[in-house]
Amino acid sequence: MIPYSHQCIDENDIESVIEVLRSDFLTQGPKVEEFERVLADYCSAKYCVAFNSATTALYASCFALDLNKNDSFITTPISFVSTANAGVCCGARPIFCDVEKNTGNMDSDLIEELIEKDTKLIIGVDYGGNPLRWEKLKNIADKHGLKLIDDASHALGAEYKGKKIGSCDFCDITVFSFHPVKPITTAEGGAALTNDETLYKKLLMFRNHGITKDAGDFIFEPDGDWYYEMQFLSFNGRINDMQAALGLNQLKKLDGFIEKRREIVKLYKDRFKNKGFFDFTKETKNAKSGYHLLPVLLNSGFIERKREIFKNLRAKGVGVQVHYIPIYRQPFYRKLMPDVYCPNAEEFYKRELSLPVYPCLKSEDLEFVFEVIKGVFE
Ligand SMILES: Cc1ncc(COP(=O)(O)O)c(C=O)c1O
Repeated sequence: MIPYSHQCIDENDIESVIEVLRSDFLTQGPKVEEFERVLADYCSAKYCVAFNSATTALYASCFALDLNKNDSFITTPISFVSTANAGVCCGARPIFCDVEKNTGNMDSDLIEELIEKDTKLIIGVDYGGNPLRWEKLKNIADKHGLKLIDDASHALGAEYKGKKIGSCDFCDITVFSFHPVKPITTAEGGAALTNDETLYKKLLMFRNHGITKDAGDFIFEPDGDWYYEMQFLSFNGRINDMQAALGLNQLKKLDGFIEKRREIVKLYKDRFKNKGFFDFTKETKNAKSGYHLLPVLLNSGFIERKREIFKNLRAKGVGVQVHYIPIYRQPFYRKLMPDVYCPNAEEFYKRELSLPVYPCLKSEDLEFVFEVIKGVFE
């Protein structure tokens, strides 16, 4: 089966992990800090805290921005559940904003009418690696005094207005995921980037049980040099040195990975653009998508056959996927908010299929995918 995405690991990646296994530190050693520094520099952000997943990084970000049970937050239904879960874990109430029909990204033009008295922040998602209209979002957030998190789990290496996603020029915190299907991998892993020192310190503490060892931040007099303080409730959200070493080596290849993804998308477009089977999603103006996903939107005549098409593609070895079931359709959210319905998200869900795209997808495998698609749709 050719999957919709797959990690691309070479001998240098493997060597970098083995090197850590032979060293003194398996975790909390020099590699995590080095990975954070290199990632922050790549994105032109001041600070970076690496976590054991993007899920933890998102939760930490909501916590650092003081989201709590007295608040609501606005987010998108077209994402993986962790985007909304992060805010709900802090006790806050989600408000789902509908998406743009042709990108699947949250529609910034619909946000203002959703803002309520208790709304504290917005969590945007650069769906499939295609950046949101961040300038518009930031203007809205500034006007209403809201905080902004970019769940850029799909978008490491993507660009907006000539800068890498992660610069935090248009948001308070950016979060990345390093799950194997993502732009680079650390097996499991994530990171939160920010330009704000106070947020950075909170993110660091959140990763480590709410503990600080920084004497300048102590509330009480230290008992001695062994002293540390746990100032709020958290848990172990750490990434380890083997993962960070893998991430460092993967980062060297990131720009090449993105170019390869974009080349593959172009080949799909050359082949299928005028066939009438499906539409390609639109790249945001002034942005460069990282194409973590290649979402296509089935045209009428095929929408009704989506179940069968999905099944046939998989049976013939093309591992398509659907991104995503609108989050509010999940039983947990239905119970929490039974009346939510976003028409564009529903239509997007009905039409969307994610086709295989990843940097080490071989050209003969891509040709095989093209032939299978042609056979199933014709
Ligand atoms: C948009 C989005 N946010 C968050 C996550 C969670 O990432 P992780 O698996 O690193 O916790 C994912 C994972 O698929 C995702 O797609």
